[in-house]
Amino acid sequence: MTSLFAFDDATCQNLAEAHGTPCFAYSGATAAEQFGSLRAVLPPRVRLAYAVKANPHPGLLARFASLGASFDCASIGELERVEALALPPGRTFFAGPGKREAELAKALTMGVRVQAEGFEDLARIDALVDRPTAVNLRVHPAFEIDEGNRIIGGSGPSAFGVDEEDVPVLLQQAASLRHVRIQGLHVFVASNQRDAAKLLAIHGAVLGLAKRLHVTHGLVFEQIDLGGGLGVPYAPAQAPIGVRALGHGLSNLLTAHSWFTGELILEPGRFLAGPCGVYLARVVRIKESRGTRFAILEGGINHLIRPLLTGEPFPVRAVGKGQGEFQYTLTGPLCTSLDRLGEVCLPRLAASDLLAFGTTGAYGLNEGMTHFLSHPVPPEIWVD
Ligand SMILES: Cc1ncc(COP(=O)(O)O)c(C=O)c1O
Repeated sequence: MTSLFAFDDATCQNLAEAHGTPCFAYSGATAAEQFGSLRAVLPPRVRLAYAVKANPHPGLLARFASLGASFDCASIGELERVEALALPPGRTFFAGPGKREAELAKALTMGVRVQAEGFEDLARIDALVDRPTAVNLRVHPAFEIDEGNRIIGGSGPSAFGVDEEDVPVLLQQAASLRHVRIQGLHVFVASNQRDAAKLLAIHGAVLGLAKRLHVTHGLVFEQIDLGGGLGVPYAPAQAPIGVRALGHGLSNLLTAHSWFTGELILEPGRFLAGPCGVYLARVVRIKESRGTRFAILEGGINHLIRPLLTGEPFPVRAVGKGQGEFQYTLTGPLCTSLDRLGEVCLPRLAASDLLAFGTTGAYGLNEGMTHFLSHPVPPEIWVD
């Protein structure tokens, strides 16, 4: 079972002394384990594409590339990072609700498969190419999805994809395009899901949607991209997702949908990168205010904004101090009361104590507000 912390106390201490704090450290071994544990249980017809937005660190990208990963990009910056890996064609995808023309041009020059999020993407691609070009259509389905955590949005109004009910009109418009061919479907509607059965229920509904589009509109899909969404534990009581059950379920879906002979794509970000990261920051001072004990740290939401966005803290421990029974409100050094990393139970803390935040390899530094208050950007250490 994956630990909430990729590094033990002694390693955290050494990293902090060698590189200074605050800093992020990523374990190449843990990243490889996450990839291997998932790859091993997926049917061969499921392609694994790492969602670069989770963490674009070059060490991670190179490690996943060496293990055979494909890549899901969502900006020109991410495309450039993946371009540096010099992958064979067919291993990169480009999604995103607001793709600019220069980004589409870059993707097409690289031979990347674009996930078109509406007619505008299709028309722009058509104008940029001079030969038949396969694209995937991202559809925002009409079926009910209870995402719970609002990261992607579940059902309801969405900036992502074309609403399922608008697909017939889009296909009519697309009929006038000269080069674009819709040969894939993309649906991603729920993130951080640790219940494999719930993810599989969504995947089953997506295959049902694909079949309706195939039967009603004659679309032939080479690939159906099911997006990311595999969750990870952020607390000891949270069970990891059952990847074996997920693999088994996908295999059953492929058998049940024998009309579909192409490949499925999974684009996990959090699952592949989350567990490999640890954020290290020291306590600057302790303050008691009207009954609340604050531990004010060197870094806060400038480096880790997720607790503010989701209300769920990262797991944290005081390095070298064992279990604790004191309640602390963890804050950063920023001049805003939004700068909170959580309410946690820790041993008695003092200035310069080192805290380790686990599972910070995904949506950590790259999702933070690093420019706010102009603190230095923390180093990211690749540990292999
Ligand atoms: C298109 C797309 N694919 C994959 C992902 C990765 O999702 P997760 O980290 O939940 O696996 C995202 C995340 O926002 C996304 O937008």
